[in-house]
Amino acid sequence: MKKAFFFLFFIVLFGSVRGQDVHTMKCEQVYPGIWRYSIGKPDAVTPSTVRYKEPAADVLDRMGGPVASPVEPQAEVNDRGVLVSVPLSRDEAIYGLGLQELSFEQRGKKKIVRVNADPRVDTGDSHAPVPFYVTTGGYGVYVDNARYMTFYFGGKVRRPTSPSGVARKQDEEFLTPFNGAYSAGEGNEVFIEIPRSEGVDIYVFAGPTMKEAVARYNLFAGGGCLPPRWGLGFWYRVRNIFHQDKVEAFAKIMQDNRIPCDVFGLEPGWQQHSYSSTYTWRDTLYPDPKGLVKRLGEKNIKVNLWTQGYVHPDCPIYNDLLQYSGDFQVWDGIAPNFFIPEARRLFVEHHAKETVGIGTMGFKADECDNSDYTGNWSFPEISRFPGGIDGEQMHNLFGLSLQQTMMEVLNATGKRTLNLVRSSGALASPLPFVLYSDLYDHQGYINGIGYCGFSGLLWCPEVRSASSEEDLVRRMQSVICSPVAMINAWNLALPPWMQMDHELNLQEVIDPDNARLMALCRNAIELRMRFIPYLHAAFVKYYREGIPPFRALIMDYPDEKDAVKDIAGQYMMGDDIMVAPVVASGKGVTAKKIYFPKGTWYDFFTGERIEGGQTLELSFELERIPLYVKEGTILPLARVTLSADDPASREIEPVAFGDNPKPAVIYEDDGTLNPSLKENVITWDARKKKFSLKSSFYKLAK
Ligand code: GAL
Repeated sequence: MKKAFFFLFFIVLFGSVRGQDVHTMKCEQVYPGIWRYSIGKPDAVTPSTVRYKEPAADVLDRMGGPVASPVEPQAEVNDRGVLVSVPLSRDEAIYGLGLQELSFEQRGKKKIVRVNADPRVDTGDSHAPVPFYVTTGGYGVYVDNARYMTFYFGGKVRRPTSPSGVARKQDEEFLTPFNGAYSAGEGNEVFIEIPRSEGVDIYVFAGPTMKEAVARYNLFAGGGCLPPRWGLGFWYRVRNIFHQDKVEAFAKIMQDNRIPCDVFGLEPGWQQHSYSSTYTWRDTLYPDPKGLVKRLGEKNIKVNLWTQGYVHPDCPIYNDLLQYSGDFQVWDGIAPNFFIPEARRLFVEHHAKETVGIGTMGFKADECDNSDYTGNWSFPEISRFPGGIDGEQMHNLFGLSLQQTMMEVLNATGKRTLNLVRSSGALASPLPFVLYSDLYDHQGYINGIGYCGFSGLLWCPEVRSASSEEDLVRRMQSVICSPVAMINAWNLALPPWMQMDHELNLQEVIDPDNARLMALCRNAIELRMRFIPYLHAAFVKYYREGIPPFRALIMDYPDEKDAVKDIAGQYMMGDDIMVAPVVASGKGVTAKKIYFPKGTWYDFFTGERIEGGQTLELSFELERIPLYVKEGTILPLARVTLSADDPASREIEPVAFGDNPKPAVIYEDDGTLNPSLKENVITWDARKKKFSLKSSFYKLAK
């Protein structure tokens, strides 16, 4: 009785953890420029407790940083979970939350970070939602939690707390016009609601600009990934139901037509049972997968295999995995919790034998997202997984768990790879996976390229089919200016340029007039091959310094905020090239308004000089991609080869833009897990009018 009374007294006096009204979070500087704010008891499983890599502490230490945190979040644990408030000033623009194809600047929006394969409305649903945002105030905020959190980005205003308080005026000057209506941008707080949690850790990343804040976030995640050189070449995914002889014949078609190709992707058809998966070869289609992989390898073509995380009863490890799996089925299979070491070990061992054991080099981890409203095929939020994770948390972590597991399979080869995945999330920067989707709006696909750079993600605007020749060429041009240059022809029998009509394509009827279209597509692919050393160097910066290789303009031009804060369709590819891909207009030639940030730019193709600080409306013939190079750049273009593994691809044909270009740096790379990445510098001698390059890896083309 006495005990019970004391307990009651305690609750009345201090509040329980829930219902506690604690506003000041405990703050601790964890690395220079990074602060952790904590309240209550964080969930046992969060993205950081299951992280892939430890923070790149040495780089963060070297970066140094300001002494004070740029913002101070406050929080309370209440009967709904945790409510966080982060101050926001009047003119801050907000970006991030992972892949968001349906909007760009986020101020005034309400967003829920929830994995969904098929977002139709701008609610925050995404293949890869990430609870991390950055603002033009020059800082970033990461919420370390796997629940479906709601972010209110400045859209809500609290009422006065007493009758004598002053209500905020609906003052037009203060309000941001949004979609033609008023008020969404008002409010000087970001509210974040974390349901069903009793505490949380929040990390604040200092700038001074968004670019540094994002770099710190990526370094905190362990640094960016570094693809092998071949990963930056050209990828082609062949038809799902091809027999292996057909796959080989296809490689010949590509090479006979001088179409470069580094990677062939095999789609679900390689497996005995794919939805859910056995991860065993279907011998009627692939009687000798090892021989196939070997012979493609002789042509420098690597094999990437489609896979998913749902294990079919016929899979040899099904029974062993049952005890580690969620309590709901997906496509007759089970969804294991791959964060449990034993579950991971079983999966890795099985895959090692069937896949990398015979020489395959990567995976496409499909279907690891969720689709509640279209198809509703995945495990429900009410699921329970061994290891103390429920279905809601698992949805935000499943893609990450699958990527980590596949990396354990792949890292055993001692070589680096690049892979594909359909769902990702927080702290994913070091995972060498690129996102793709079944959604197919070309402009949305373009916007994703730069936008993913706000959150440590990479995005591929894959080409599948096209409504016209013009659409095909424009999509090819976008995809070659993205992290993975890929055609996903899982449902095509011929390359799309050989037959545009889908039915005829499936019947393998070659269009006799395909020469021009093939040439246009080949030109785009060849350009990609030329960019490999440049792109590789951009990725080295991601790997070492956390700077994303593809970035929205606002990240590089914060001083021109008013001009660039809403530009979604232009982005930086590396430090020196601005890309502004064109969407087919139906007329062949397309007019596009392009903003040129301050400075001098050169048209990549014509060398025409353009002064920055202005918007120009320009017209682009079908063969032209709007690519602009900063004055003072040497582009280390590679000789075009059929694959990046061809030694001739290391012959460099530099091109200078402007009279006194700064040296270009490219890196030697042996493709191993810890490459030395020796710097090779290309300089221009203005007097002798000559480039020079000292390297035992690259050489200047004659
Ligand atoms: C989809 C995937 C496509 C393709 C297809 C094959 O889920 O997004 O890229 O792989 O499955 O069935």
